[in-house]
Amino acid sequence: MKTVITYGTFDLFHIGHVNLLKRAKSLGERLIVAVSTDDFNRQKGKTTLVPYEHRHAVVESCRYVDQVISEHDWLQKIDDIEKYQVDVFVMGDDWQGKFDELKQHCEVVYLPRTRDISSTAIKQAMAVIAQVERELR
Ligand code: CTP
Repeated sequence: MKTVITYGTFDLFHIGHVNLLKRAKSLGERLIVAVSTDDFNRQKGKTTLVPYEHRHAVVESCRYVDQVISEHDWLQKIDDIEKYQVDVFVMGDDWQGKFDELKQHCEVVYLPRTRDISSTAIKQAMAVIAQVERELR
């Protein structure tokens, strides 16, 4: 059985995440997703609207996902690849080339990102809507 793994924050789960997970699953039979913990996001300087437990539950409910684990450390990937006997490591192409050193351990694939959507863009749109609503009050 071919095992695929991918990593990410998955805040405000959106169509870009769905497309990434669907294509990742199509590369094998088992898809593992490592979801960044709130502590790890803080280390990365990233703030989420949705807490880890909820992001974990949302990703776990996606039909393409077989298992969710936590991502808590930049250095856990090689251990994960060995522990879960991973064949393919997948990331969106915003990470192109950044994980090429993992090619010693498994296949590394960068998938094209879905255009015009991101958690950041959704947060920005929400801020604009909140501002407009304040002005209309
Ligand atoms: N992703 C994608 N297409 C998008 C957005 C994300 O393929 N439009 C992929 C990323 O490349 C990554 C995974 O989904 O492999 C998780 O990305 P994440 O950083 O959680 O999502 P973003 O929406 O990019 O979040 P942010 O705006 O906070 O960077």
